[in-house]
Amino acid sequence: MNQQTLEQIRTEAVKRMASAHGSQHNLNHVYNVVKSAMQMSHSYDIDKNLLEAICYVHDLTYTEYYPGIATYVFEGKYIASILDKYLDQFNIDSREKGIIINACKRHPHSYPFKVLNRNTDLYTKILQDADTLDMFSDERVDNSVFTKNLKWIPVKRLMRVVRLRYINFFLNIPQI
Ligand SMILES: [Fe+2]
Repeated sequence: MNQQTLEQIRTEAVKRMASAHGSQHNLNHVYNVVKSAMQMSHSYDIDKNLLEAICYVHDLTYTEYYPGIATYVFEGKYIASILDKYLDQFNIDSREKGIIINACKRHPHSYPFKVLNRNTDLYTKILQDADTLDMFSDERVDNSVFTKNLKWIPVKRLMRVVRLRYINFFLNIPQI
């Protein structure tokens, strides 16, 4: 993907994500996912611009749907259908479009359901792992509905334990 197309996708996605519904899928989350994904990509010969573009658009679902059970369950379907139209405004070919949609469609439910993508392409694996890692960040845990509404559950401590001891169970590419 050329630099100009990436910049167009980034600008447009940032504009849209600024008004995303829910505190967990905000711009900060997107920036964290971009940062982690870029760090992971150093070891691989892949199109870094394409990967970055994928990270920017992966949660556009939350610009059209409010967080809730249906959105949680059908997130993969929703994002695939949103991107199918959304991406046509950019100068990308059908191969790139397919990679972006596939990665975004398959990114949910790594934790706690362990719906991973270990046998798929690197873009999908890296996006999902970067998203999962941010799920365990203190900032994200603080913003979760469980932390806010079920204060008697030590969510933060629990997530820290999982992050330190069991994170590799929920990743496509285990961290060393
Ligand atoms: Fe995300």
